[in-house]
Amino acid sequence: MEREPIIALDFATWEETDQFLALFPGESLFVKVGMELYLQNGPIIIEQLKKQNHRIFLDLKLHDIPHTVQKAMKGLASLGVDMINVHAAGGRRMMEAAREGLEQGTNGKRPILLAVTQLTSTSEEQMQNEQLIPVTLEESVLHYAQTAKQSGSDGVVCSVHEAGRIKEACGTDFLTVTPGIRLKDDAAHDQTRIADPKQARELGSSLIVVGRSITKSSQPLESYQHVKQLWGGTQNA
Ligand code: C5P
Repeated sequence: MEREPIIALDFATWEETDQFLALFPGESLFVKVGMELYLQNGPIIIEQLKKQNHRIFLDLKLHDIPHTVQKAMKGLASLGVDMINVHAAGGRRMMEAAREGLEQGTNGKRPILLAVTQLTSTSEEQMQNEQLIPVTLEESVLHYAQTAKQSGSDGVVCSVHEAGRIKEACGTDFLTVTPGIRLKDDAAHDQTRIADPKQARELGSSLIVVGRSITKSSQPLESYQHVKQLWGGTQNA
């Protein structure tokens, strides 16, 4: 797995996205397209990004009945994205159906399938009070990760602070993809379980997702390179 940060392209339009990507001339990036960009613009976004040779994590976090998820995944896989996800809360059968759909939509190499455990914006208190899950956040995340593994997912989206325990429980090959990444002086915004790229590396993330620390930076290319160095272990602060 390449030690390359995934940039969250949380923009509303292709024009805005393209302007941002123009700040990275000649770089083949690993980018994340989420629901803001995809739902307002559709598959054309994926086509445009592929033309520019970027690798794509399509972060739509599907969560529906198994049949619907299977059909949706079949269509999305045919767009040629590299990684895609569902909510583990959708259950074992839904995750299996997602994988079946991905296999049906591609001839041979299917996209990597991830399951979202608990969103990194969710606190333990919120999980217990709103979702009525009476265990600790860590227990819930670990349970979701193990269920995801048993259902054929390749990894999970989780907080850096859970990555180590998940690797212990699910094996080192099981991917831990971690958002909630911030550089030292950045605001946390709506994320509650954050870490910097160096902590992420040390605590067992397979891949990091970085949004506002790069996209809202006054110097996005410099911030990207800084994140990359911290994440890659070639710089310490
Ligand atoms: O700007 P920031 O770095 O917080 O962006 C994080 C990105 O990762 C957002 O696109 C958000 O939707 C996504 N994400 C997350 N937590 C998850 C799954 C995805 O923050 N558990």
